[in-house]
Amino acid sequence: MHASENVRPVYLDPSQPIDKRVEDLLGRMTIEEKIGQLCQYSGFTSEYERMIIEGRIGSLLNVFGAKETNRIQKIAVEKTRLGIPLIFGLDVLHGYKTIFPIPLGLASTWDPDAVKKAASISAAEAAAEGIRWTFAPMVDIARDPRWGRIAEGAGEDPYLGSVMAKALVEGFQGDFSGLNVVACPKHYVAYGGAEGGRDYNTVDISERTLREVYLPPFKAAVEAGAGTVMSAFNDLNGIPASANPFTLRTILRGEWGFEGFVVSDWNAIGELINHGVAGDIFEAAEKALKAGVDMDMQGDVYRRALLQLVKDGRVSEDMINEAVRRILKIKFKIGLFEHPYVDVEYAKRIVKCKEHVEAALEIARKSIVLLKNDGAVLPLSKNIESIAVIGPLADDREAPLGPWSCLGDPRDIVTVLEGIKSRVSSETRILYAKGCDVDGLSTEGFKEAVEAAKKCKVAIVVVGESRDMSGEAACRAFLNLPGVQEELVKAVYETGVTTVEVLMNGRPLSIQWSADHIPAIVEAWFPGIQAGYAIADILFGNYNPGGKLPVTFPRTVGQVPIYYNHKNTGRPPSSDRWTSKYLDIPYTPLFPFGHGLSYTKFEYSELDISPREVTSPKDAIKIKLKVKNVGHLEGDEIVQLYINDPVASVTRPVKELKGFKRITLKPGEERIVEFTLTLEMLSFLNHEMKRVVEPGLFKVMVGSSSEDIRLTGTFTVKNLVEFP
Ligand code: NOJ
Repeated sequence: MHASENVRPVYLDPSQPIDKRVEDLLGRMTIEEKIGQLCQYSGFTSEYERMIIEGRIGSLLNVFGAKETNRIQKIAVEKTRLGIPLIFGLDVLHGYKTIFPIPLGLASTWDPDAVKKAASISAAEAAAEGIRWTFAPMVDIARDPRWGRIAEGAGEDPYLGSVMAKALVEGFQGDFSGLNVVACPKHYVAYGGAEGGRDYNTVDISERTLREVYLPPFKAAVEAGAGTVMSAFNDLNGIPASANPFTLRTILRGEWGFEGFVVSDWNAIGELINHGVAGDIFEAAEKALKAGVDMDMQGDVYRRALLQLVKDGRVSEDMINEAVRRILKIKFKIGLFEHPYVDVEYAKRIVKCKEHVEAALEIARKSIVLLKNDGAVLPLSKNIESIAVIGPLADDREAPLGPWSCLGDPRDIVTVLEGIKSRVSSETRILYAKGCDVDGLSTEGFKEAVEAAKKCKVAIVVVGESRDMSGEAACRAFLNLPGVQEELVKAVYETGVTTVEVLMNGRPLSIQWSADHIPAIVEAWFPGIQAGYAIADILFGNYNPGGKLPVTFPRTVGQVPIYYNHKNTGRPPSSDRWTSKYLDIPYTPLFPFGHGLSYTKFEYSELDISPREVTSPKDAIKIKLKVKNVGHLEGDEIVQLYINDPVASVTRPVKELKGFKRITLKPGEERIVEFTLTLEMLSFLNHEMKRVVEPGLFKVMVGSSSEDIRLTGTFTVKNLVEFP
C-alpha cells in the first residue's frame, strides 16, 4: 500500500480484474511514465538506476542472477512513484543453466512432449532467478543453412515448426501461475528468408509464401497463448518488419486476435533509419508505434522521440496508452505486482538440480540423428578392446553448449571423451588425439591422430563447428567442415581402421565425402550439458537413436536453398537433359528432411484411409496404419504423414508434412498409428488468395522420412470448401 493513500489503490488489489487494475494504473501515470513502460534496456548502470527511479524504464534484459534481479526490482518497486515492477527478459532458448540441445536438435526429437519439458525446466530455472520473460521460441522457418540462425529454430517445415512452436510456448508459459516465463515468438516475420543466407538481409517473398511457409509457426505460437511477439530486423517486401502495419496490425492483431505486446528486436526501430524508411528517430518511432511495436528494445528511440511526437500531435496519447495497456496487462497476468522478488535459496536448490540434468540427458539422446550406419558398425561393443577418440570437438567443453546458451557453464559439460570413458568396460583402452582445431589450417596434430587410430579397433572422430559458428551474425558461405577437419577424417579413414564420425554443428553440413566413405555418421547437433553421455549412449547402444532431420542436408552449398516441400516445376528432374537439375551434381539432397536411422527395423503395413470420399466440410479423414518393429532391439520410429494435392488452381508442393508420431516399440511389437486430417489442414491460398480446399484427388504418403515413403493411398474431396 502506498503511504500517501489510506485505501489500497485498485491496481494494487489482486482481487480486482486485470483490466480494471490496468485502467486504474494507467489513469495515475504521467505521459513520461507511460513512455517509460515502452522502453527496454540491456544490463544495469547507474544511469539506468536513475531512469528506473524516474519511471522511465519498463523492462531490462541481460540482468543475471536472483540477487541482482531482486536488487534492481527493489528500486522499481520501492523507489518509484507508482511501484510498477520491471519485467526482466533474457534469451532463454534451450536452457537457462541446465542446457538442452539447441532448438534445431530439440526439433530433431519430433517429440513435442520432450520439447515442452525442456522449455518448462528452462522456464522454472530462469523464473527462479527473476527472469520472467524469454525471447523465445525462435520460430523462423529456415530453408538456407548458410543462415547461422537456422540453429535457433525448428528447421524448414511449417508444420513441424508449428508443432514445436506450440510445445515451446506451452512449456515456457505454463498457465502463467507459478514459476514460468512469458514467451516471445520471434522474429516476426520471415527473418529466415534472408537473401543469400546472410543475416539481417532483405527478404522478398510472395504473400503466398509468407502465409503458407513463414507465418504458420507464429500463428501456432499465438494460438498457444504467447504473451509477446518480437518484431524482426529484416525488410519484408520493401517494408521493414518493425514498421510493418500489414504483418503487425492486419495479420497479428486483426486476423489472429493477438492481445499481448510486441517488442522490437534490438534497436530494430533505430535501424529503420538505415533501412531508409525513416529520416530520423522521430519518423522511426512514429512508424514503429503506428505499425504496432509496443516496446523498444535497447534502441532508446521511444524515450527520445515519443514525448515530442505527442506534443507535435503526430502520435496520440491514446496510441501510447494502447501500448502501455498491453505491457501492464502482461505484468499483472504473471503476478509481478504481487510477487516482484524471488527466493534466492529456492533458486539455488532448483537450478541444475538432478531432475533437470536427467531431463537434459534424456532429451539430448532423443535429439541425436543416426545419418548412416553401413554394415551395422554401430552400436559398438562396450567391451571393445580399444578406441581412438579423435577430433577437435572430442574433448571440447564449449561447443556442446551451442549458440544462445544463456548461463550454460562449460564446466558442466560432459565431453564426448568423458562420456565414452564412462560407458565402456574398464578393460577398454582409450587413446585420445585432438588432431586439429575446428578452424585453421594446421595439420600438425594429424600424426598423433593417425597413430592413435592405427593402434585401435575403432576410431571415433568428433568434428563439426564451434559454438560461435552458428547463431546470430554467424552465417557461412561454405557448408563443409571448417578448417582441415575433413582432411583429418580422411587421414584417419585411410589407416583402414573402422571409423565413426560424430558431428556437432548448428546447421546442415555438406559432408559428401564422409557420406560416401565413412560407414557410420552420427549427427549430434550441439546437445547441451549432457552431450558426452548422450552421444556415448548412442554409440554403445544404451539408447537406440530415433531422431530425424528437421532440415535437408545439401550435397554442396550450390544446391541451397534446398527443401523437401518444393514445387514440381514444369520439368521435374529425370534422365532427360532438359529438366530441372544440375550438370555437375545430382539434384537430390545428401540426407533428406525426416531422415534418421535406427538400430532396429520397422515395417509399415495396412494403410487405411477413411472416408475415401469427402463430401462435407466437417469431415475429417482418418488415416491408420500398422507399424511393427521387425528387428531385435527396442527402438523409436517417427512415423511421418505427407500429402500432395496433384492438381489445383495454383502449384502445390510435391509433399507436405501433415502429421507425425514418435512411437517406441519393443522387438516384435506392433502398433496402429492414427492420424486425423481436417479439411483446414488441406487448405491453401488459391489464385485469388482465398483459403480453400479444391475438389479432387489427394495423395497420402506415410513413411520413415520424406524420401522413404512406405505406404501410399488417395482420397477425394467432392466439393469446394472455403475458409474465412
Ligand atoms: C538480437 C537477436 O536478434 C534477438 O534474437 C535477441 O532476442 C535479442 N538480440 C536480445 O538478445
